[in-house]
Amino acid sequence: MGISHNQFFERLAPHYDSLLDHLTFGGYAKFLRRAIRVLAPKPGEAILDLCSGTGRAAHWISQAVGSEGRVIGMDITPQMVSVARGRYGRSGPLIFLEKDVTQPWVFPDLFDGIFISFALHELPEAHRSSVFLRSFASLKEMGRMVVADFNPAATGLPRILSLLFFSLFERRNLNFFRFDLHGALKGAGFGKIETFRATAGILQITLARKG
Ligand SMILES: C[S@@+](CC[C@H](N)C(=O)[O-])C[C@H]1O[C@@H](n2cnc3c(N)ncnc32)[C@H](O)[C@@H]1O
Repeated sequence: MGISHNQFFERLAPHYDSLLDHLTFGGYAKFLRRAIRVLAPKPGEAILDLCSGTGRAAHWISQAVGSEGRVIGMDITPQMVSVARGRYGRSGPLIFLEKDVTQPWVFPDLFDGIFISFALHELPEAHRSSVFLRSFASLKEMGRMVVADFNPAATGLPRILSLLFFSLFERRNLNFFRFDLHGALKGAGFGKIETFRATAGILQITLARKG
């Protein structure tokens, strides 16, 4: 009998960062850092990290926004939230909420930026666009959103490698490779959209602006 997706993250939580860093020879942390540079958090800003996992990216973002800023991480897996709180605290400018981001949430016009890394592909197909709609409503007028993930529009060898990887390890999320990321962001109301490719086009960082 296999383990469910949630049980997988429950068990992996304390070792998630170090395991991924080792498996990718440091590439995972480097990619997250690059995505945060694209988000470009500034002192005093309010940032939401969707599916924040162990809280590492949220922590790095909180270092950029400083004590005048605020960072909220949300994740569905209790053990991930517990690891994040254990490492980075339970209060102050960086907090972690146990929350399924596919269920209703909106913080109208509250955030300067919203970040989601390596998680959009895991959300059920029917919910990915609604997460963008809620994100759009939760951003301030000139706010921006950064999506760091696999590239669903990859072509050629990068697509073959991605499909192979998902067939072996993430079969239930193979539908991500027919997800129209740009169309969904535009449909949610985002205007200017920029894409930065990584790892030969297998991964990408997408920056979408509200204003
Ligand atoms: C691959 S990990 C990425 C974690 C972190 N964003 C990072 O880049 O290191 C995916 C995370 O998404 C979370 N997740 C999956 N589905 C979710 C949902 N519906 N709502 C909130 N979090 C979810 C999982 O619990 C897990 O922590």
